[in-house]
Amino acid sequence: MSDIVLCARNLRRSFQAEGEVVQALRGVDLNIARGESVAIVGRSGAGKSTLLNLIGALDRGYDGELRVFGQELKSLPDRELARFRNRQIGFVFQSFNLLPHLSVGENTMLPAYFGSELDDRETRRRAHKLLADMGLDGRFDHPPMQLSGGERQRIAVARALLLEPPLLVCDEPTGSLDAKTSEEILALINGLQQQHGTTVVVVTHDPQVAARAGRIVTLDHGRIVAAPCAEGGA
Ligand SMILES: Nc1ncnc2c1ncn2[C@@H]1O[C@H](COP(=O)(O)OP(=O)(O)O)[C@@H](O)[C@H]1O
Ligand SMILES: [Mg+2]
Repeated sequence: MSDIVLCARNLRRSFQAEGEVVQALRGVDLNIARGESVAIVGRSGAGKSTLLNLIGALDRGYDGELRVFGQELKSLPDRELARFRNRQIGFVFQSFNLLPHLSVGENTMLPAYFGSELDDRETRRRAHKLLADMGLDGRFDHPPMQLSGGERQRIAVARALLLEPPLLVCDEPTGSLDAKTSEEILALINGLQQQHGTTVVVVTHDPQVAARAGRIVTLDHGRIVAAPCAEGGA
């Protein structure tokens, strides 16, 4: 298996908004290796979420090249793209994106409903284990809305990991959390990355979140800008 998880070459993405063309990405070149943790930073509107949505196979309306696990995403039919996403990628968003009418356990097991090799028993076992790892096992049958923001984000992390995806993408995962809870969530994600060799890409505007990543990529007006000298030298 290749050690390159992601390879982008001259990656461009534009949107039509009210008759105008917005160039959100203007030629991004990026390689990410297996097991790396990468933070994508930059000011609001720089193109961070656009890039993450492409990396996460949520959007493929791009020009240029984008290979994730060797697969050029542009060429995949819708169904296969959904399948690819479900198997290969876990998502954590700022707003948690839990379904309020499902229980904590059902939210965690959701990825399995969209197709997996796991049977119901194994799915349930894994969900219990993940929630226990997150300190939430007693909450399996609770509605998520009874829980705090930090607890909800932990459910979202558990859900993202249910199918053990080799790539985890997070868009402002701590954006709605206080400093202490943010620390806990990041420690969880870091622990997983080290334990399972998961590749992690995190979009953040928080320098403390970025500082935990192995590498920081800065976007400005849809381009990667050269990194300033890293603190700590070579
Ligand atoms: N679906 C869309 N339709 C129109 N414009 C968009 C869309 N998504 C993003 N953009 C524009 O692309 C640029 C980059 O957006 P985004 O990637 O969300 O930035 P960031 O996440 O860095 O704040 C912005 O100018 C934004 O308005
Ligand atoms: Mg964004």
